[in-house]
This record gives sequence, C-alpha cells and structure tokens, in this order.
Amino acid sequence: MTFTLRSLAEIILKNCDILDAALEKRGAHVPSLDDPYTPESDVTNNDPQLLATADIACRAALQLVQTIRTPQLTILLDGLSFLTSVSLRCVIELHVTEILREAGPQGMYVDEIAKKCNVDPQKLRTILRCLAGRWIFRETAPDTYTNNRFSSMLDKGKPVAELQSDPMTMYDNPQSTLAATAAHYGDEGLKGAASLFEVMTDPTLAFSGDPKDTGFSKAFNTQKSYWEFMEQPDQKARLYRFGVTMEGLQKLEPPELAVIGYDWGKLRDGAVVVDVGGGVGTVSAQLSEAFPKLHIVVQDRLDTIEDGKKRWKELKRTGQVTFQAHDFLTPNPIKNPDVFLMRYITHDWADDYVKTMLHHLREAAGPNTRLVIMDRIVPYTCSIPKDKEGVQQFTGLVESKYPPPVTIATPSNFAFGAGVMMLLCINGQERTIKQFDEVFASAGWKIDSVVQHEGSGALPSTICAVPI
Ligand SMILES: C[S@@+](CC[C@H](N)C(=O)[O-])C[C@H]1O[C@@H](n2cnc3c(N)ncnc32)[C@H](O)[C@@H]1O
Repeated sequence: MTFTLRSLAEIILKNCDILDAALEKRGAHVPSLDDPYTPESDVTNNDPQLLATADIACRAALQLVQTIRTPQLTILLDGLSFLTSVSLRCVIELHVTEILREAGPQGMYVDEIAKKCNVDPQKLRTILRCLAGRWIFRETAPDTYTNNRFSSMLDKGKPVAELQSDPMTMYDNPQSTLAATAAHYGDEGLKGAASLFEVMTDPTLAFSGDPKDTGFSKAFNTQKSYWEFMEQPDQKARLYRFGVTMEGLQKLEPPELAVIGYDWGKLRDGAVVVDVGGGVGTVSAQLSEAFPKLHIVVQDRLDTIEDGKKRWKELKRTGQVTFQAHDFLTPNPIKNPDVFLMRYITHDWADDYVKTMLHHLREAAGPNTRLVIMDRIVPYTCSIPKDKEGVQQFTGLVESKYPPPVTIATPSNFAFGAGVMMLLCINGQERTIKQFDEVFASAGWKIDSVVQHEGSGALPSTICAVPI
C-alpha cells in the first residue's frame, strides 16, 4: 500500500484535536513532561472513548517515527532498549526519585545525588543521561537533575533515610507498585532474558516446557523453577517485590472485571464454582461478594491455601467459600461442578502442561460443567481474512480496526512483551485465540464464547468452554 507521510500526520492531528477539545471542556491543560505527575493531568482521564482516540494517535505517531527514521537507527535503538530497563532498576533501588523529591524543584547536581546513594558519580551521570534522553528525569542545567512526569511515578512515597535504613520494606507503601514492577523487570526479567538464547539453542533444554528449563533458571544457576526459587528464605525481598508487582497489575484492571466476563447471575442458587489455582482467593472474594449464593472452592498449593485461609479471616471476608489444597496437574477431587474457573493460570504453562490440567478438569466435568478461563488473548499483528485461522467463529472477539495506513502492529501492546516474560521466567506464554482453541480441543473442551477487552493488551479476557 502506498501512502503519504501527511496521511499519518493527519490521523495524528485529527485525534489530537479531539483530545485537545476534551481537555478544554474539563478546564485542563496538556500536561508538561517537565512537571511531576498528578492524576488530573492524564489526557484521557480514563474515559474509554478518549483512550481509544489516544490509542490511534499513538499508533499513528509511532508508525510515523518508524517510517521516517532510518531502519539502521531503529534496529540499533531497539537492540539497546534493555539499557532503559537496567537504568530504571538502578535509579529505583538507589532511591534517586526520592532524593530529588527531597532536594526540591531546583534539582541536584549529579555528584551530590551520587554521594547520597553512595555510588560513583561518573556511573550515575551516564545512567541519568540515558534516562533523561527518554524523558525520565529532567536535566535542568548541565549534570543537574530534577523529577519530571515520568520519574515522579517511581516515587515509593517514603523518606530517603527510611528507604536506605530498611531496604526490605522499600515497596510496602501502596504507591510503590510501578517502581516495584519496573525493578522486577530490570532484575529477574532482564537477567532471565539475557539467557533466553542459550536455553533456546541448548539441545537438552530447547524443546522442554518444564518450568525449570528457562532463561531465568539458567541465569540464576538454579535447578528450581521461578516459583520454587523465589520461595527460598534468602529471596524474601524479591518475592515480596513480585507480590507488589502482581497487586499493581491487578490495579490496572477495573475492579468489576472478574465478574463481568461470564454471566454468573444465571447460575442456580448453591451452584459450585471451583477456582482452580485460585491463589489466596482474590477473584473468589469478588465473585462471592457479587453472587453470595454461589458455593466457591478455592484450590491451590498447600502453602498458598494456608495463606488464603489466614487472609480470609484477617480481612473478615464472608461468603460460601472454602479452601482446598490441590495440585492441578493431578485428577480433580470435585466432580461435576457448575464451573471450573482459572484466572492467570494457562499463561504460566507450556502447552503440554495446560493440556494435562485441562484434561483432568474434563475428566471431572459433567455434561453441563463450564470451563471459564481468564487470561490475555494476544492479537495477531496482521489482519485476518474472514475464512482463515477459524478466528471469526468466536463471538465476543474484538476486531482491531484502525484508519489506514495505521497498521495493527504496535510496540504499545502489553501482551506481546508479557508473552516473552512468561517464556523466559517459567516457560509460559500468552496465547492467540487459535492457540487457546487448539489446546482446549486437545483436552476435550470447545470454546463457546469470548469476552475480550480492548486497549493496551494488559487486561485479561474471559473464554468460556463446554465439554466436547
Ligand atoms: C498467577 S497466580 C494466579 C492466582 C489466581 N488465580 C489469581 O488470579 O489471583 C498462579 C497460581 O497458580 C498456583 N499454582 C502453581 N502451580 C500449581 C499447581 N501445580 N497446583 C495448584 N496451583 C498451582 C500458584 O500457587 C498461584 O497461586
């Protein structure tokens, strides 16, 4: 397809006009990248229509950059993109944002910042300039930095002295979830990623789906899987940070997401719902609050189940919810329930393991049992002809439509990166709807309906399947 650069620029202009008008209507201004973030400064104000408008503008803008810039430079910059992750982890765990918050708006000279972090100023200078070049921190005068829109998001909300004296609790303030997530990416993620190629080409590991045969396990020189490694006493800080990360990702979801994907209200009173791999019962708590007549059984590993019971009591939760230790790679003790629910389970595992767990659920299912999976559905990066891939047969799938010449491929879809992260940490993967269809069918389940959520690709979709 031939097109003019102006056609992309016009798409950007048209959508920016809509965003400008929305800002003006609510008496707000275009946020400055120089100022610290405030929730009111969000251009879209989380309005679904404005989020879609912003999505198109961003896609067109990114595509314009990729089109105009030389491919050589794009590949070089992409090849170096890990340096942003590593630099972010350094400034987060050296508490640079908090040091600059305490320094005030005039900022601080890099040698002073380095002194407070007890690191070499030459090294910190290089890292800060790399980030400031991506609008994370602002260089107000040569080698003098202050916080700006993006660096302020990394603030863990505590005094520097407290952060430095007790590193174990650095992420326990609720506002620190984004910092915890970025530090987790720049630590376990980055180290595991560095060994992915070696694992993919090692003849003994290359075709294994075992959660122990991963880039992460190779990088950390362990025979343990990610979960087992993190449960060791000397990994408490990493495990805690990971927990904060999970909480942060859940906060990106609208609170009602767990209950809107499936018509729970149509189930009979006393219907049995088994939350397989239900963790500490987070989703079950939401379900039982919205539908108190459901009888819910949360199944998970023994330690998690014990934590779940404790948490249920601490939070004084009520509802017909029981906890049961169960390994989902073995036959399920609950026969013929109304629903087997699995949220964020399938993306942790390679196909053979998913097939095993779904097969056990199929064996335990009755003819009317439904399988409800909540996980991300990865879009293709191409448009799909109507008769190809068997994709159009599912109702509820969101069809990505963008004004030409904007393409579907975009670096801003979270699910693409999340898939690689799952792969390198635990041999998991995010799946396309076709991959879900195939793995379901191989275990005796057929997809009946899908509820997909549009947007950044960060939200889980709900897939309902029936026994074949
Ligand atoms: C990503 S968490 C999802 C938890 C929960 N479904 C939620 O959405 O909050 C994955 C869960 O799978 C559990 N898990 C891992 N291996 C398991 C196994 N073999 N049997 C049962 N649960 C397992 C973990 O303990 C963890 O709670």
